Amino acid sequence: MIYQALLSLVSSAIILGSAPAQALDNGLALTPQRGWNTWNKYGCNINASIILANGKALIDEGLHKAGYEYVVVDDCWQGPRDPSTGRITVDSTKFPHGLKNLTDEIHAMGLKAGIYSSAGSMTCGRHVGSLDHEEIDAQTFADWGFDYLKYDNCFNEGRSGTPKISYDRYNAMTMALNKTGRPILFSLCQWGEDSSYLWAPTIANSWRISGDIYDNFDRADARCPCDDMTTQTCYLQGFHCSVKKIVNFAKSLGQKAFPSAWLDLDMLEVGNGGMSTTEYVTHFSMWAMMRSAMILGNELFSMDNATRAIVKNTHVLDLISGDANGSPAYPVWEETTSTNGTEMQLWFSSLVNGTYAAALVNWGSQDASGQSIDLSTFFVDDAPARKASWDVYDLWAGVDFKQGTVPAKLSKLSGSPFTGSIGNLDVPSHGIKLLRLVPAGTDGKGMSEQEHKRRALQEAEHVQLERAMQWQEDRVNARRMASRGL
Ligand code: GLA
Repeated sequence: MIYQALLSLVSSAIILGSAPAQALDNGLALTPQRGWNTWNKYGCNINASIILANGKALIDEGLHKAGYEYVVVDDCWQGPRDPSTGRITVDSTKFPHGLKNLTDEIHAMGLKAGIYSSAGSMTCGRHVGSLDHEEIDAQTFADWGFDYLKYDNCFNEGRSGTPKISYDRYNAMTMALNKTGRPILFSLCQWGEDSSYLWAPTIANSWRISGDIYDNFDRADARCPCDDMTTQTCYLQGFHCSVKKIVNFAKSLGQKAFPSAWLDLDMLEVGNGGMSTTEYVTHFSMWAMMRSAMILGNELFSMDNATRAIVKNTHVLDLISGDANGSPAYPVWEETTSTNGTEMQLWFSSLVNGTYAAALVNWGSQDASGQSIDLSTFFVDDAPARKASWDVYDLWAGVDFKQGTVPAKLSKLSGSPFTGSIGNLDVPSHGIKLLRLVPAGTDGKGMSEQEHKRRALQEAEHVQLERAMQWQEDRVNARRMASRGL
C-alpha cells in the first residue's frame, strides 16, 4: 500500500514537473517576466525613436543579460480603426515606419516586443480599444510580430461587476491570442477589480492587483482609495498608489500566484526620481519578494549609478525573483508605528534547495538598529528549520550605489551560522534588510530535495524516539509510585 502511494506521489510529481505553463499553456513566464515599458516615464509622449533608444540602452547596459527581455509599447500608439479592414491603425506621426518595422528592429537587437490595448471601447488614453474586436486585434498584434500584450480595463462599457462578467471579457482575448498560434505573453491589467485573483491566474501570465503606481514611497492619496483588494467593497481602484500601499495590497495575494500566472504590482519606478535610493531598494526588493512582473519604467539611456546598482542586482533577480519554486512572500509579523517611529514587517519566502528569503522592512520614520529575527517566528510552519543553523547572506551587501556596481559573489553575514535568531540588524527608515538563509555547511548552495527530505525524516524519527523515551520514563515512574502505594 505504502509503496503504491509513494509510487503515485512520485508519478504525479513527474507529471507536475514536466507540465507546461498552466495559465495559458503558452509556455511563457515560467518565472516573472522582466522588461521595460514606456508608460511610467513617457506617458503618451512616445515615438519609435524613443522606444528604440531605450531598447539600445537596455542592450548597452547589459540589462538583457540580467533577463530584461521585453520592450513594451504602452498606450497612445494607435490611430483610428480602419473602417474597411476593421484593423486598428498606427499613429503615423509617432511611428512613421509602422509597428512591424519597430518589432523587427527590437527583434534584431535580440529582444522581444510588447504592445498595449484595453478590454474596452477605448483605452485609458482614449484611443481605440479592443472590446468585441479581440480576434482581429490579436491577429493584428501577431502579424506585427508582438510577443507580449498588456490588456487594460478602461471604458469597459459597464461589462464588469461580477467575476464571471470580467472573466468572459478578458478570456475572449486569451482565446484570441491562443488562436493566433504565436506565443504572446498575456499581461492582464484589471487593477484587481471583480476579485481578479480568483480567475485571472487561469487565463493570464500575470495580473495587475491594484490601481496605478506612482513614484512615491508612502504618501496616502485619495486617488487610490481602496484599502484591501480581497474585499468586495472597493469599486474604484484609482491611481497614485504608493509603494507602501501596493505592498499592503499584495500581502495576502501571493497565494493565488504560480509559475506563468504572476502577480503584477505595476511597473517599477526605480530611477524616475521621486524616491530616495533607500526607498527604491525597498521597492525593487519587495517586487522581487512578491514574484511580481519586473518591468522597468525609467529612461534607460540616462540612468544614474544608483539606479544601475539597483536594477542590475542579479542576486535579487536570480535568487529571489527568478527562483524556480515561484513562492511569493507573505508577512509573518508586522508592528505598527511604535513610540520610536519604527514600523516593521518581517516577510517570508521559501526558495529552492531548502533555502529561504527574509525581508525586514522599516516603513517608519526612524532608523531601527540592533533588530533581530527570531527564527521561531520566522519558520512559523516548519519545526525542523526553527532548530537548524543558517548561513545568512545580505543581498544588498557590497552593492556600490555611487559606482553603480554589484559584487559578483556575496559573502556570509558575520556571525554565520545563526541558530535561534539572527541579530544585530540595522534597518534605516524606509529601508529593507533582504537576507537569504542557507542551511549551514552547504557552501551557500542549500540542500538537494533528497537531502532535505532525509533530514526531515531524521528529525521526525528523532521526535518519535524522544516521545518513546518519555513514555518509558513515565511508565517506570508510574510503577515506582504504584509500588509505594501512591
Ligand atoms: C491604465 C494602466 C496604466 C497605463 C495607462 C495607459 O491606467 O493601469 O498602467 O497603461 O492606463 O493609459
